[in-house]
Amino acid sequence: MAFITFEGIEGSGKSTQLGLTAERLGDRAVVTKEPGGTAIGRALREVLLDPARRELTPMAELLLYFADRAQNVAEVVRPGLSQGRVVLCDRYVESSLVYQGCGRGLSREAILSLAELATGGLRPDLIVLLDLPVEEGLARVGRRGSQDRLESERTAFHQRVREGYLDLMAAEPERWCRLDATAEPGTVFARLWETLQARKLTGGPGS
Ligand code: TYD
Repeated sequence: MAFITFEGIEGSGKSTQLGLTAERLGDRAVVTKEPGGTAIGRALREVLLDPARRELTPMAELLLYFADRAQNVAEVVRPGLSQGRVVLCDRYVESSLVYQGCGRGLSREAILSLAELATGGLRPDLIVLLDLPVEEGLARVGRRGSQDRLESERTAFHQRVREGYLDLMAAEPERWCRLDATAEPGTVFARLWETLQARKLTGGPGS
């Protein structure tokens, strides 16, 4: 049993790495994402990412991310862990700390108290950070076509997000694994899998 979350700026390739990890783990894996890992979450995700909803306030945005998270933890993450599975989650509390905290300037203490309320204090065993320069991430997203509400934020916003991740990691390095996301996906995955094995997080015999 393990809880592994994937974090990174837009265009960092975290969903690709999560997918490769899930494929390698086979039926030991439970895959989910925030926002949108549950039916309730998918409804919230539509509101959260709709570029037309410019009136959404930073606090309302924060609370919607946490509503999605409370549902995801109760409906997918905790049941998966109870079954002894390896739960892989695309974004978690650290996304709120860096996007709503460092990006939008909301209070870190407020976010941490919401995390306690919404998740019962559930922390990941490992946070995988797919790290790359903001310009490169945004260029990759640009090539994908239309942008959602958060992707269209200014470069300075994404810079604060990236630095926010690196600061969180520096404060608690044992919980994080930083991968250079500018490398080829296959190379990134080889490093990721090595780390998961070394930390006995693959859910196989002996871990
Ligand atoms: P995601 O579905 O991971 O999209 P992407 O592939 O662009 O990373 O995340 C959707 C957006 O939601 C992303 O821009 C980050 C943002 N987000 C927050 O701002 N706070 C949060 O707590 C979460 C979970 C996501």
